[in-house]
Amino acid sequence: MPELPEYDKPLTTSADLVVDGGRLRRGTPSLTVEVPGDKSVSHRALLAALLPGAPSRLTVRNANLGGAVRALLPAMRALGAHPVIEGGTLVVERDGTAVPQPVRAHPDLDHWPHDVPYLDTGGSSAAARLLIGVLAGSGRSAVVDGDDVLRHRPMDWLVTPLNQLGADIAYLGEPGRLPVLVRGTVHRSATVELTVGSAQARSGVLLAAVAAGLPADIRHPVRSRDHTERMLAAFGARLTEVPGAVRYDGSPYTVPDVIDVPADPSLAAYPVAAQLLWGEAGELRVPDVCLNPTRLGFFEVLRRAGADIAYQDERVDSSGERAGTIVVRGGLEDVTAVRVDEPATLHALIDEVPLLAVVAARLPGTSWIGCAEELRFKETDRLTTTARMAAAFGAHVEVAGDGLKVLGGAPLTAGTVPAFEDHRIAMAAATLAVSLPGRTTVSGGACHHTSFPGFADTQRAVGATITEVPRT
Ligand code: S3P
Repeated sequence: MPELPEYDKPLTTSADLVVDGGRLRRGTPSLTVEVPGDKSVSHRALLAALLPGAPSRLTVRNANLGGAVRALLPAMRALGAHPVIEGGTLVVERDGTAVPQPVRAHPDLDHWPHDVPYLDTGGSSAAARLLIGVLAGSGRSAVVDGDDVLRHRPMDWLVTPLNQLGADIAYLGEPGRLPVLVRGTVHRSATVELTVGSAQARSGVLLAAVAAGLPADIRHPVRSRDHTERMLAAFGARLTEVPGAVRYDGSPYTVPDVIDVPADPSLAAYPVAAQLLWGEAGELRVPDVCLNPTRLGFFEVLRRAGADIAYQDERVDSSGERAGTIVVRGGLEDVTAVRVDEPATLHALIDEVPLLAVVAARLPGTSWIGCAEELRFKETDRLTTTARMAAAFGAHVEVAGDGLKVLGGAPLTAGTVPAFEDHRIAMAAATLAVSLPGRTTVSGGACHHTSFPGFADTQRAVGATITEVPRT
């Protein structure tokens, strides 16, 4: 088996994040910090290189280079597309020379057909689900698999509708889970009904339909992040949105040579939260952030509750996304509680729930983050892990039905807190810790590399004292 290129090797996560909180090292009242490219847009832009008719060389500028996006690279190479990282840019050259990848052990993989590529997507559900869609639309057979955590996450959300459109996707192990064998192209024009709001599921189905040029009507319960719709529309595919559905008419599309990725609003949320939690008078600016409304829930909920957050310098870039500067002034002095009680808002902050919960723990009132059942199917059951992480600080966060009830006002203390190897939990904990006097150790906190490799640097730029300490 060939030696893995440096950038395909798993990023180390065996380190803690150590935060010395309560002290602000900030010399200037107005500060600008940058955050990496959007993870979701990066996944979609990379996968555009595998769409039928894509250019033989596709440049993705400002891609997110965290572990979740890197998880897609070996699979692409196994399919004859060769991504190379040049600075912050990913260049994908497609020459059709497939590079076989190591097969992850699985009791049921003895029976997989060895004449098709084996595609390991590591721990990234977006990589797995979007890739399954692209394969099902482009008529390429492959086994798609993932790590032990991903093998427990639901794939039937998109496999069932894809099979209704005529794909032939079989579970090789446990029903509804990875690994799957994808054969046969979607070819039956139909209306399919998604059972969950997952943007990954909707995107997988939409990518399959567009890749195959197959008219399809995709009904969905929630209008969650719409990066796939925007990107495909920017490529010229005719999509119509009606309430509860997106319709594709089978029209052609052209993948451009260059796709620009705006900065990730889910990552911008951490420095913004650090600023708000400190409550220092002053201004923080995060430029070039994706301002897609389906991603701005964290900022909007806090803004509605009284935080001073604004958007400036808006433009539309080549991925069809609105981008601009997020500006936050002051702290949380006018905010007593936050409330999320409708599905679209929840989906607009789905990855920020742990962060919103710890922010809510610093507010005086009782907050509610509801409609969040899907969080049980993330890298961890994030309702439970958020509550347990927050409890380690002394916060009162209860899992109640489909959400989290946060009883604000409890005294919080620094200490050792768990991250459960979940990047969003780790970064939420480390962000809360910067506002608490004393030392906090976020166990295994370096798993932030999954989505935000430069997390500690960014929080340091805002004024935090935070280091990554390898485990001995
Ligand atoms: C993503 C969608 C969300 C989000 C994930 C990325 C995407 O997951 O939590 O981080 O890229 O479409 P679901 O689609 O499962 O809700």
